Amino acid sequence: MKSVSNLMLSFVALVLSSSISADTAPSASKTRGDAAKGREIATQVCAACHSPDGNSVIPMNPSLAGQHAEYITRQLESFKQQDDKPAIRQSPVMSVMVEPLSAEDMRNLGAYYAQQAARPAGVKDKSLALQGEKVYRGGNLESGLPACAGCHSPNGAGIPPHYPRLAGQHAEYVATQLRSFRASERAKDPNNEMHMIASRMSEIEIESVSEFISGLR
Ligand code: HEC
Ligand code: HEC
Repeated sequence: MKSVSNLMLSFVALVLSSSISADTAPSASKTRGDAAKGREIATQVCAACHSPDGNSVIPMNPSLAGQHAEYITRQLESFKQQDDKPAIRQSPVMSVMVEPLSAEDMRNLGAYYAQQAARPAGVKDKSLALQGEKVYRGGNLESGLPACAGCHSPNGAGIPPHYPRLAGQHAEYVATQLRSFRASERAKDPNNEMHMIASRMSEIEIESVSEFISGLR
């Protein structure tokens, strides 16, 4: 009797798992990382700059805690030089860091950081942040700048897998990235929506929206 019910259970499990995998991308099982393995690399190698739990205390180094796993994995891949092609995203520091990482390591790191609780950097200049909130929520009709909230969501949590979390990120890091998108230095891909968006931003819009984002939670 026992073995029959076990058989029944495994049959149900099989049906369930095959119907789940039919609903998701074919590589879904491959893209799920092992957070425990990611933790080892994160605490031994990455912690010096991103802190052990991914809440960076250095404003130029991004916080990774609570970021979507897929986004982290994709960025790590983009820092890596592929054969003779230059890396999609240039960073003298990160290109060295990703050198020894395998595709599996990158998925594991994504899984680890996604599970860490994010601590917002916090606003330093309230009136600047208030100005930035208008940009974040309403964009700029005159220059055709879309509202950030449309893709990064009203609370900055982002929409996985494509739109990264921004909430609580260091203002200095955010502003640097926006300038880098504006100059088409980051991710030289004409399909990257952020190039068009950042190209429509003035310096004060960049500074104020970055300040606002650092306090979002
Ligand atoms: C020596 C300091 C340093 C170390 C060590 C380091 N990083 Fe970074 N990391 C940075 C800096 C600086 C940036 C921003 C690069 C840029 O300006 O584009 C960054 C960016 C990133 C990003 C992109 C984040 C985003 O929001 O787009 C990820 C992901 C990342 N690092 C993961 C890691 C992992 C995983 C490790 C360990 C294997 C690691 N880093 C080790 C300094 C470091
Ligand atoms: C149409 C959708 C869309 C809108 C609107 C949008 N973004 Fe983005 N944003 C993206 C995508 C997609 C990425 C990931 C780009 C990549 O992978 O290189 C991104 C990435 C970013 C990043 C890099 C995050 C990191 O951790 O390095 C910042 C900063 C950012 N956006 C800020 C903004 C701000 C500020 C606004 C409003 C002025 C805005 N975005 C509006 C789609 C959007």
